[in-house]
Amino acid sequence: MSYGSTYGNTALREVLVDYLNATRGLHIAKENVLITRGSQMGIWLSSQLLLKKNDVVVVGNTNYDSADATFLNQQARLIRVLVDKHGIVTDEIENLCKQQQIKAVYLTSHHHHPTTVTLCAQRRIHLLNLARQYNFAIIEDDYDYDFNYNHAPILPLASHDTNGNVIYIGSVCKTVAPVFRIGYLIASKEFVDEVAKLRGIVDRQGDALLELTFADFIKSGDLDRHIRKVMKIYKQRRDLFCKLLKDELGGFFQFETPKGGMAVWTKLNANYSWATISEVARKHKLEIGDWQRYDTAKLKHNYIRIGFAAYDEEEIHELINRLKKTINEIKID
Ligand SMILES: Cc1ncc(COP(=O)(O)O)c(C=O)c1O
Repeated sequence: MSYGSTYGNTALREVLVDYLNATRGLHIAKENVLITRGSQMGIWLSSQLLLKKNDVVVVGNTNYDSADATFLNQQARLIRVLVDKHGIVTDEIENLCKQQQIKAVYLTSHHHHPTTVTLCAQRRIHLLNLARQYNFAIIEDDYDYDFNYNHAPILPLASHDTNGNVIYIGSVCKTVAPVFRIGYLIASKEFVDEVAKLRGIVDRQGDALLELTFADFIKSGDLDRHIRKVMKIYKQRRDLFCKLLKDELGGFFQFETPKGGMAVWTKLNANYSWATISEVARKHKLEIGDWQRYDTAKLKHNYIRIGFAAYDEEEIHELINRLKKTINEIKID
């Protein structure tokens, strides 16, 4: 009931050490762990400490828009690098490093947000070597590590980082539910100490009761049981969603079934626009949401992310049904 540590609840930090070392191949101690209120806070704290005005941050040519906003809020300069089917193109990052000082590279290596592609092994090693050689930080946002349907999760870059370049960020907000504002930032002790000072200014110690509850939840094995349970459910939902989208609306959309995560990167055929679809969809009680956020770089790629994990079978049928009604209304013959 009293004041606690600005690093977050001690019991949760200790539990996370064992949990993250066992599940993600990390080699950390309590001194490397700071509890946050979700990944977003980890991105913000890192950017506050790493970046000054005009410092260069490398991001994908499509990227998680809130990360972009966080870096821009710090007046950093974003340089966008191509993301292909093997993830961010590290040769392009190397070329940039030869021309100018890069402060940080922001990555969602497990499943790139928004395209869902996984960063391949060769590029992971290349990037870690570049970070060591050119002395930049890698902000690894591992927001959906737990969700892989076709193979075992791929260990984060942080598990191979021997030089302290990686700031590893994760949370329970995707794994359990966004309402639980608990995340973690993993980095060298020196960095974590500075982050704790900064965090103490804005948020004295987080939510100790919630953090204790999660310490128990993880320690008892309930989190692992939860993950095993939802994995099966989400895989079924992914399969149903992708099947219906292909069977019922395949002529209008292109997509690849994602190997993991909770969303499908869906391309609308060039003759149609998401602006029209989202307007007409409203008539059929379908909210497309903020579709512009997937193209902040204005590439005009005509893709958006459609989440499937939050909908049960009936809702997925209904979603496709309403999308079909929408498309039928605007169909060009
Ligand atoms: C790539 C990515 N990073 C971070 C977050 C923020 O997560 P949190 O709820 O843990 O702050 C999200 C949420 O959608 C996300 O998609």
